[in-house]
This record gives sequence, C-alpha cells and structure tokens, in this order.
Amino acid sequence: MAQIIDGKAVSAAVKEEVALENARLKDEHGLKVGLAVVIVGNDPASRVYVNNKKKACETVGFQSFEYALDENTTQEQLLDLVNVLNRDERVNGILVQLPLPSHIDEKAIINAISPEKDVDAFHPVNVGKIMIGEYSFLPCTPAGVMRLIQSTGVDITGKQCVVVGRSNIVGKPQAMLLLQKNGTVTICHSKTKNLKELCLTADILVVAIGRAKFITGDMIKEGAVVIDVGMDRDENGKLCGDVDFESAKEKASYITPVPGGVGPMTIAMLMKNTLTAAKKQAGIE
Ligand code: GUN
Repeated sequence: MAQIIDGKAVSAAVKEEVALENARLKDEHGLKVGLAVVIVGNDPASRVYVNNKKKACETVGFQSFEYALDENTTQEQLLDLVNVLNRDERVNGILVQLPLPSHIDEKAIINAISPEKDVDAFHPVNVGKIMIGEYSFLPCTPAGVMRLIQSTGVDITGKQCVVVGRSNIVGKPQAMLLLQKNGTVTICHSKTKNLKELCLTADILVVAIGRAKFITGDMIKEGAVVIDVGMDRDENGKLCGDVDFESAKEKASYITPVPGGVGPMTIAMLMKNTLTAAKKQAGIE
C-alpha cells in the first residue's frame, strides 16, 4: 500500500520558505514584491485559479495587482496592457491566465511578456533556458512535481522515469527536469503503441495526459513513485486524476492524490518564481 504524498503540506512548506525569505529581503533590502494577474473573460475555473493566486500572494506577503478584462478585449488591448506591466516597476511578475478567448493569439501574448517577468516560464527564451539547464524560472507545475518527488526522499539519479503526456506546459519541461536530475527519461503520449509496457518500466511515473483514470494499477511497477498531474471528472462528475488512484495505490510506494497532490504545488512554485524575479530585478542574488 502506497504512502500518500501530501501536496497541501509540501505546498505550505514552500510558501512558508518564500514568506520567510520575502520578510528578510524586505528588512535587509527594502524589497517589495508584486505580481500582476491578468484574466480575460468569465471562465469560472480561471476565476478560481486567479483568486487562489491572489490569496497566495497575501499569504507570503506580496502585493498583487489584478486586471480583470472583458471577454471582448482585443488582442491589441491585451498587448498594450502587457507592455504597460513590462514597464511597471511595482510589478515583478506577470501572469496572464490561460486559456484566453479564441480571438486572441496566446503565443503573441506570451511572447510579449518580458522574459524577466515571465513567472510562468512560458516565453520561448525561458523555455530555451530550461533545455540548456541555465534557467531562472522553472515552469510551475513541473517544478512542483520535482518538489513532491524530492519530499519522498527517492533519488532520481539512474532511475527509469516515464512521463505520460507531451504538452509544452507539463510533459516536455517535466522530462527535461527529470533528465537534469540524472533520470533516464521516456516520454509517452496518446500515439504511443506500447504504453502499458513502458509504464511498467517506470520507477518514477509522472502522468499528465488529461484523461480520467487513464493509468490503472496493472500499468504500474511494484514500488513506483506515481505523480498524477491530471485534473479530470469521473463518470459521476467527481474530481479525479489521470491515474486510477484505488488500483494504483496497491502497487505504488508513493502516490499523489487528486485533489491535494500536484494542484496546490503549482501556486506555491509561482510564488517562488515571483520572488526570484524580484530578486533578480533588484540585483540581489
Ligand atoms: N491556466 C492553467 N494553468 C495555468 C498556468 O500554470 N499558468 C497560466 N498562466 N494559466 C494557466
């Protein structure tokens, strides 16, 4: 029976670290950290995420600036706002909540954010830096996953790591981070033919494919660390992950629940990135 990884507890520990360092930098350097959060339209899930991000800013002692724009905002108007925020010295990090309404080109918006303020690490400059291991910001969800793996005490070096999913936000950067920690990494996706066979090789299995309960216990090696990035609904409309928790927990040594696993980590890592951005902009190492 697996030990359950408590994402809420690990997330609280990360936020506590950020809060302590923020307080110290305020005392020693007069540093004042600010995050701008931009939301366009009325997507209820995005609204919840944005509120949680603002709440986390309060918890760690950052200022947050919310820009809630109408659904009909044009791409030019949003670009203008990003440019204003790029120049605003109170703003150390800029987060434009995705998805954006379909008439706005997300890539154009991401590319317009100053890489120094890109606390999501979505800008091509920051993505490229991750490839060469010279990054300031790690994308929040994969960074959160690394921290959860670290919390188990399991050493990644030399382990077979399988990432299920190849998105730009999770799968691809996740694979790079595991590789940097000396894992032997395989990336699987919806077209992979021998998925079960590959999953069964995994000492560390990270699943981010966006399909409810897609990975079942028979696809998991005895003693594997299983990290579930999914946020799905099951046949009864109940929140669940990409992993079938009930069967998987019988095989795994450690497993994350949904909710309460990876979810809370993402915002904690966003706070960490925002503090890193503020320090760099102030020339504090
Ligand atoms: N929408 C869902 N997840 C994210 C995220 O990590 N960052 C942003 N900007 N939007 C999101």
